[in-house]
Amino acid sequence: MNIVSHGPTDGVFEIEIDRPEKKNALTETMYRDLTSALVTAEQDPQTRVVLIYGQPFCFTAGNDLQDFFDNPPTSDNAPVFVFLRAMASLTKPIVCAINGAAVGIGTTLCCHADLVYCGDTVKFQLPFARLGLVPEFASSYLIPRLAGHVKAFELLVLGEPFGAQTALDIGMINAFFDDEAYLTAAKQKAKQLAALPEEAVRATKKLIKDNIKKNVDTSMSVESRVFSERLQSPEAKEKLSQFLNR
Ligand code: COA
Repeated sequence: MNIVSHGPTDGVFEIEIDRPEKKNALTETMYRDLTSALVTAEQDPQTRVVLIYGQPFCFTAGNDLQDFFDNPPTSDNAPVFVFLRAMASLTKPIVCAINGAAVGIGTTLCCHADLVYCGDTVKFQLPFARLGLVPEFASSYLIPRLAGHVKAFELLVLGEPFGAQTALDIGMINAFFDDEAYLTAAKQKAKQLAALPEEAVRATKKLIKDNIKKNVDTSMSVESRVFSERLQSPEAKEKLSQFLNR
């Protein structure tokens, strides 16, 4: 099992990404397991908050590129797209604790979390265009909302890695801590959140998210279609092969 669920303890349900030998790259099976962990958390009356984290020095290298090459997601029901919708529509609050590589979806999922805490050696990266691909998870809508057009274009198109300070400056994360302290800090915040009046927290999340839901849903669905097309393109096939044959 590369997706491990813990709890809930004190109202916090933890989801750990655990595939260190491949830098926590996410396969179809892992997306299925992530979705079922989210569904379990959403339905469990004891769970008030979901906390997602990876290894101390690697959150995730993003989509498994071998998986993408062998088995590109072509329909709306592909496990990756089902997971994106499950996370974007979760009514319970989500806290993310991130350090090390947070590539592709490892960065874009921050835009769907409610609180995000990082270690100070976190390395976010959105290498979609470099790989011949396009943004996913409504990041073509959400990142420009945070950062403005030119910064979003830089992050989404030039695709260079960026650190915790940039992420904090654009409002993508709440705070960063020493590598040894970030997970404990995130767990504390998750516990604090779980102790608040549950219905008020969920109603507030809904009020905030309802304002942008239509645009997020449209963006995810258009991006998914273009992303699937791009995966079949000669540009993307060449870039994926380059990585896989390093
Ligand atoms: N898909 C599949 N396998 C991946 C992967 C990915 N996204 N990222 C890393 N791996 C694998 C490597 O192939 C390697 O496997 P091997 O030991 O069998 O050869 C192993 O994980 C370790 O990766 P490595 O590149 O040696 O680690 P690193 O610490 O030098 O670099 C990263 C870490 C994350 C910076 C680098 O692996 C990377 O850039 N990965 C691709 C990220 C990416 O483009 N993701 C897609 C976003 S849409």
